Amino acid sequence: MPMPEPGYDIDAWRRRIPLLASCIPFNNCSQSPQTDLTRAAADRYLESWNRTGMDWDAWMEEVRLAKVAFARLIGAAPDEVAVFSSVSEATSAVASALDFTGRKRGVVASEMEFPTSGHVWLAQERRGARVSWVATDDGMIDGAAYDAAIGDDTALVAACSAHYLNGFIQDIGRIVARAHDADALVFTDAYQALGAIPVNVRESGVDFLASGNLKYLMGVPGIAFLYVRPEITNTLHPTVTGWFGRANPFAFDAKRLDWSTGASRFDCGTPPVMNAYIARAGMEMLLAIGIEKIREWHQVLSRRLCEGGRERGLTQHGTSDPARKTANTAFVVTDSHAIEHAMRARGILPSARGPVIRLAPHFYNTIADVDTALDVLAELTRDGRA
Ligand SMILES: Cc1ncc(COP(=O)(O)O)c(C=O)c1O
Repeated sequence: MPMPEPGYDIDAWRRRIPLLASCIPFNNCSQSPQTDLTRAAADRYLESWNRTGMDWDAWMEEVRLAKVAFARLIGAAPDEVAVFSSVSEATSAVASALDFTGRKRGVVASEMEFPTSGHVWLAQERRGARVSWVATDDGMIDGAAYDAAIGDDTALVAACSAHYLNGFIQDIGRIVARAHDADALVFTDAYQALGAIPVNVRESGVDFLASGNLKYLMGVPGIAFLYVRPEITNTLHPTVTGWFGRANPFAFDAKRLDWSTGASRFDCGTPPVMNAYIARAGMEMLLAIGIEKIREWHQVLSRRLCEGGRERGLTQHGTSDPARKTANTAFVVTDSHAIEHAMRARGILPSARGPVIRLAPHFYNTIADVDTALDVLAELTRDGRA
């Protein structure tokens, strides 16, 4: 049987990633590699700064275009998107807009939330919130577990789109349907999903979606985006705020606190301009390849990782069904950081996280990359180095 191939010119895209000359990146769930396009975007900002000294109009336009690209990725409109420096900050801004003093104080959070999401919601207990947890079962969550956890007192459900440890994908649409029945909102952290699986906020109906860019979106730290469902946006008044959240930021009136209409009311201070240049280039690149095509290739690589891991005697964490996970494939090891170190020395970049070593390929990885990474991991675990 011929080897499967991606539905795009993988060799042409590989040529855009200089790092591939020296190693095989499998750390896309943590930090994806630089491309000539993202590098050129950073250079464009540096050149603009150097040439003009200051070009705020052009820089703000670039931030707007980054919002446009993010909106396209999630099926939203650009004015439904706000910009932040991190997902933690975006989550805090959402939390600050909610009232936990009345009957609805419950926050239902999944145990597979990235810690920052847990921390932000727990911090709201000081403002009256009561956090309860939906348990993970063997690295997964059955959607029905949310049905039982959500009640009349639930104000918000925090459910990541995909698990940062093992890539398990949650059915956000199903969670939204149950939450909206109980008159509760849903916040999804889509950091481990965007760029890896198709996401559409209109289809899921989710109220808030946040993500940064350094994972599958091929960007850098220091920028994140927040989608807010337009039907609720103007009822919310985030108190984590700043001058860019005002109806007219350039009114320079410190005594007047108004909130702009649209998601820009969640914007805070001066946006991360240089990061917006890079983020936009990364997102536009993925849109040019096509998220559906990337997902198809991820599933081929994911299946190879799951089956190849099993054949080599490795223990996988979470589901081995490629339809229910992103390409991130986690193997349980005794010392994940030692394994990461040893694999790096062999030219493979995995990502250690707690009890697992994560192999998270992306659109540019090949089947040969997968086999090499698994061979090295199996050899290291046999050597007793895991
Ligand atoms: C799912 C998820 N959410 C949030 C974060 C962290 O977000 P930030 O550092 O932008 O707050 C990460 C990883 O760093 C993550 O994997």
